[in-house]
Amino acid sequence: MTYSLIRKILFKFDPEGMHHLTLQLIGLAGNIPPIATILRSIYYAPPQPVQLFGLTFPNPVGLAAGYDKDATAWRGLACLGFGHIEVGTVTLLPQPGNPKPRLFRIPQAQAVINRMGFPGQGAQFAAHQLNRPRPSGFVLGVNLGKNKNTPNEEAARDYLALMEIFTPLADYLAINVSSPNTIGLRQLQARQALDELLSQLVVKRAMLSSKYKYTPLLVKLAPDLTDPELDDALDVLLANQIDGVIATNTTIQRDGLFPVEVANDPTVKESGGLSGAPLFPLSLRMVQKIVQRSGSQLPVIGVGGISNCDQAKQMLDAGAQLIQIYTGLIYKGPSFVKEILQSLSRSH
Ligand SMILES: Cc1cc2nc3c(=O)[nH]c(=O)nc-3n(C[C@H](O)[C@H](O)[C@H](O)COP(=O)(O)O)c2cc1C
Repeated sequence: MTYSLIRKILFKFDPEGMHHLTLQLIGLAGNIPPIATILRSIYYAPPQPVQLFGLTFPNPVGLAAGYDKDATAWRGLACLGFGHIEVGTVTLLPQPGNPKPRLFRIPQAQAVINRMGFPGQGAQFAAHQLNRPRPSGFVLGVNLGKNKNTPNEEAARDYLALMEIFTPLADYLAINVSSPNTIGLRQLQARQALDELLSQLVVKRAMLSSKYKYTPLLVKLAPDLTDPELDDALDVLLANQIDGVIATNTTIQRDGLFPVEVANDPTVKESGGLSGAPLFPLSLRMVQKIVQRSGSQLPVIGVGGISNCDQAKQMLDAGAQLIQIYTGLIYKGPSFVKEILQSLSRSH
């Protein structure tokens, strides 16, 4: 069965329900060795290694955060050709997230709007999931966020506790201060708040590195920062010797991002973060600006709206060392990873 047929069937049902179903199937497949082996051979692409943050990524294409929030399916996802998988966002305590419905497809624009609000079973659950035999050949990131009920002034406590739990389990950690669906979270990107937060986290990074291993700390930014706000954030990231930046999260912008015939679709007016094709120009511009301003001092993982092989290449040409996809996977299916990798190797 082709993916376009599978997608037709999946798209007849509720988006969040279908997400859970596919995630469960992928997770199950990863736990059945013969099926995992078959998947690995189907989605195999020759390695295109990238050395970054002291890690070897087998190829530049990763799975963005939010797909496997509770780390229940990472062993199956690892069979689909990704060079890295970022699980999470994980919060310290379990929480329900926002009321449903909170995930919306906009197929005419290959886009999605979500206002999930970090639903999840919490850090202990995710850590238990990650504490399982690890297939080789991919890099594992864990994306960390604060609980909804944690005020921003106490956010550092959540992130510090999460670093303790996940440093021994992850190859890198990503600090999420850019989700639009947790009220106030993005204010942690402002100069002073970000500095207060990161200065504590890098001390923790050093302490934990002598106990376990050096675990790179990345920060994920929003595409909605103004130029001065981005400058501030980059100054703080550089001053605190953050290892890298993930650009970008979803956008709260809508204006001018859709063709007229789609712009009036009521789904476009749903609140939350927009991902997929309409986000690409914003994310690409953000990556270009970051590379211009911080050069090679701050490696970038480019993410946001990559919907075809040419866009994957554009993101890398803009200076991103790695890329991630999420919404493209919903519209193109798992073979999208291999398709990108084959196209990148042809263009070299
Ligand atoms: C349903 C959904 C849930 C997401 N959840 C998270 C999350 O928990 N943490 C996070 O950092 N990003 C999350 N994201 C953002 C993605 O990681 C990514 O940055 C964004 O979707 C842009 O990439 P894309 O256009 O390829 O999807 C989520 C995206 C979607 C569509």
